[in-house]
Order: sequence, then structure tokens, then C-alpha cells
Amino acid sequence: MKTIGFFNNMGGVGKTTLVYHIAWMLAEFGQRVVAVDLDPQANLSSMFLEEERLEEIWTASPAPTIDGVVAPRFLGTGAILPPVLEDINQRLGLIVGDLGLSRREDALSAAWPNCAIGDLRAFGEMSSFAQTVAAAGAMFDADVALLDVGPNLGALNRTVLLGCDFVVVPLGADLFSLQGLRNMGPTLRLWRETWDRNKVRCTDPNLATLLPRGTMTPAGYVVMRHSVTAGRPARAYSRWIARMPAQYREYILDKPPIAETSVDNDPNCLAVLKDYRSLMPLAQEARKPMFALRPGDGAFGGHQAAVADCWRDFRRLTERIMEACSMPLRP
Ligand SMILES: Nc1ncnc2c1ncn2[C@@H]1O[C@H](COP(=O)(O)OP(=O)(O)O)[C@@H](O)[C@H]1O
Ligand SMILES: [Mg+2]
Repeated sequence: MKTIGFFNNMGGVGKTTLVYHIAWMLAEFGQRVVAVDLDPQANLSSMFLEEERLEEIWTASPAPTIDGVVAPRFLGTGAILPPVLEDINQRLGLIVGDLGLSRREDALSAAWPNCAIGDLRAFGEMSSFAQTVAAAGAMFDADVALLDVGPNLGALNRTVLLGCDFVVVPLGADLFSLQGLRNMGPTLRLWRETWDRNKVRCTDPNLATLLPRGTMTPAGYVVMRHSVTAGRPARAYSRWIARMPAQYREYILDKPPIAETSVDNDPNCLAVLKDYRSLMPLAQEARKPMFALRPGDGAFGGHQAAVADCWRDFRRLTERIMEACSMPLRP
């Protein structure tokens, strides 16, 4: 199984929306998918599940959530628990998020420098999320795990992203997203280098096999136009979009500039997704992906053409992501 994280240290760019829709689309392609909600805001869980179900999960003890599974490792009361998957459909399972996840920031912050001195407890904490994702993948016989994470460069995200084989970057066409790239690229490289140096200090052979691999290969970026179309002139956002190929190359790939390219010709650009406008609230209401909306869900008339476009867009994007992650969907 390969693990793909969706990350930008800027909020509201569309990470959760992408994970949700790509998870459904991969299942349509016949892939077995585990979606993991690692954002303490738990937006992905609330897109998939009704509030009543979420309340049942969050009030159970131990909670069958990502945090419930890893908690014993942090409390020092034992090994991580077997992960619990919420079946969304036959081929799509969810590890439910948890607002309590933010409580792990302090421990993970302390664990990071302690790995440099070979502290086994620190390595145990650093391995907890990668171990949970791997166990869930094995349990579900998954081909791919998609990870939704929160918008910051904190210790939780560092731990989670080090466990990703690939990272996809959603970008809004604005200053904030491009500024996010500048922070993110060098930070990911620093994490990777530090981890490569430190992970070898883990002397427990069993634990060492469970540690995050730390590859985090950049798979490309997705331009999300929804965040910018509201009330702004087209010129303003096309200016930001025009800068993306060069900035992604410079800050994320750390490669010298090449002749000017546009997002349309840039191999690193996985898609330019449009603003699907009212499809999104309809999808949330129906608890379905936008591309699966039917007239009975309120998507009648002109909406059906938009649904068909959306289906084509996500199908193509999903193919592109899987190609970029060396798991092509078609020979
Ligand atoms: N392509 C799109 N078209 C319309 N609305 C979108 C689209 N992508 C995301 N949104 C909306 O934008 C908001 C932020 O998206 P979200 O996925 O929650 O971002 P993030 O996870 O990066 O914070 C949400 O209200 C979501 O419904
Ligand atoms: Mg989100």
C-alpha cells in the first residue's frame, strides 16, 4: 500500500474536499482505499458521517478514532490498539478523526529532538501514526491510503507527513497559497534530512521496521479556483496561477528554474479544478461526492451537466495522481 498526504500549510484551499472526492473516485476505479482524518478539526469525518454516528464514535470508550488507537502509546499504558475502520462502502474505509488529536502536539514536539539521542519512547511516538495507517491498510487489504491533515507545520503534521510516500499540494490562486509553498518546501526537506539522520538511531529492531519511511515525494499540485473566484477580477488570480509552475519547482522541488511554462503545460500541475459552486453544498447535504449527485439530491436541470463535468475532472485528476505516485490505474 502507498500513502498519499494532501498538504498545504494554508487552510481553506481544498485539502479535505480533494481527499474526500479522490477517495470515492479511487473506489469507483476498483481500488481499495483507506481515508484517514488526521486533522484535529475532523472535517473529513464530518463529510463522510452523519452527526449522530460521529457522536456515537466520539463518546465511546476507548473512542474508535485515530486518537483512540494511538492514545496508549502516548499515555505510556501499552501498545497502540488495532485500528477501527468505518465502512463507507465495500472498497472505502475511514479512520475517523478526533478533536483530541491536538493534545498529541506537545509529546510529538518533545519526541523529535529525543530521537536524536536514540530515545525509544520518542521513536514509539514517532511511529504511532504510520503504524496505525499500515495496520488499517493491511486489515482492509487497501491499495492506497489518503491522509487529510491540518494546515500547519507543527509536530503532529511532521510526524504524519514523514509517514507519507507522496505529498499532493492543493494551491489556491492567491498570495497566501504561494507563500505557503515558500515555507513548506524547505521545511519538508529539513524534516526529511533530520529524520534520515535520526531514524537510524532506533536500536529496537521491531520498532525500526514500523518507523515512518520519511520519503514524502512531491507528487504535484492541484490548482483550486474556488477560493478566489468570489468577487475578484479574473486578472488577479490568473497572475497567481501563472507563477505556480516556477514557484513549485523552486520551493518544493528545489530545482533551478526552466523556461517559462504555464500550468497547462506543467507536468507538476495535476489539475486546475474549477469552482463547482452550488454542487458542493448539495454534496454535503446528500453526503455524496459532487460527481455522484442525482436529480433526487437537488441536482436537476443545468446541474446535471455540471455533475458530468465534475465526474470527468475528478476521474482525470485521480488518474494523474496515481500516475505521479507510480500506481497507474490503466496499463
Ligand atoms: N472545487 C470546489 N468548488 C467549490 N467549493 C469548493 C471546492 N473545493 C473546496 N470547496 C469549498 O471550500 C471550502 C474549503 O475547502 P476544504 O476542503 O475544507 O479546505 P481545507 O481542507 O484545505 O481547509 C469548503 O467550504 C469547501 O466546500
Ligand atoms: Mg481540511
